[in-house]
Amino acid sequence: MINANIGDIRQASKYLLDEIGFRPEIGIALGSGWGGLLVDVKDAKYIDYAKTPHMKRSTVQGHAGKWVFGEVAGKKIVAMSGRLHFYEGYSLQDVTFPIRVMKEMGVQKLILTNASGAVNTSFNPGDLMLITDHINMTCANPLVGANCDEMGERFPDMTRVYSRELLDIARKVSDEMNFPVKEGVYMWLLGPSYETPAEIRMARILGADAVGMSTVPEAIVAKQMKMKILGMSCATNMAAGILDQPLSHKEVLDTARRIESDYRKYLYNVIKAI
Ligand code: HPA
Repeated sequence: MINANIGDIRQASKYLLDEIGFRPEIGIALGSGWGGLLVDVKDAKYIDYAKTPHMKRSTVQGHAGKWVFGEVAGKKIVAMSGRLHFYEGYSLQDVTFPIRVMKEMGVQKLILTNASGAVNTSFNPGDLMLITDHINMTCANPLVGANCDEMGERFPDMTRVYSRELLDIARKVSDEMNFPVKEGVYMWLLGPSYETPAEIRMARILGADAVGMSTVPEAIVAKQMKMKILGMSCATNMAAGILDQPLSHKEVLDTARRIESDYRKYLYNVIKAI
């Protein structure tokens, strides 16, 4: 098995570029809570994942499964409305295929957004956390397999996955808007079951501020391809065991809906500034 099929990636990229007629410079994966951005996309063109050669479609409620091409704050962007998760049963090659396709289309800067459970007890539901680093708790890695050398190195460095330059810009936008953001380490767990309270205590001891089921595989391949990555997480709920109540996908979606318009403005200004 090879860890990326360059023929498939090029074919998908060519299909999309032929459909839209421009090369996007910024790519954005929109997680739960982040879909408000779509309102700001000028001359938006939607393309179903299902129509894209070799691409799988998302099965999760709240994840649409469409590419969105257009302009935001004068920048040419491609957004993923809905992403693929490992827990849906896809291979990590399938999960990260769209990131490879974005790079092939010309995307240099990648904004990865998600929803997470807050492990850090100083956070509140609805807080935005800039991701400064991550912990991969799945023991799975999208680069497993014979290496496709055209995509990047066999043993890519992960010292600085999340671009300092983009983090600084995101901090500055937060200051300028008077929209406070937190910062911290995101831990990727497989899901789809939520964590147990014991797992959340473990996550905290290991240095996590938030836990979630996405983003890290995309960040690993993007870093391998030398993209500049900005990671942003919406802490939709306190992680398991912090409050005396069960977790639910409904709570995640309710918080996501509540913060959507604030996050929309913030993301717009970040895109404008990068
Ligand atoms: N755990 C894992 N993933 C999540 C959570 C959580 O508490 N909330 C939103 N995504």
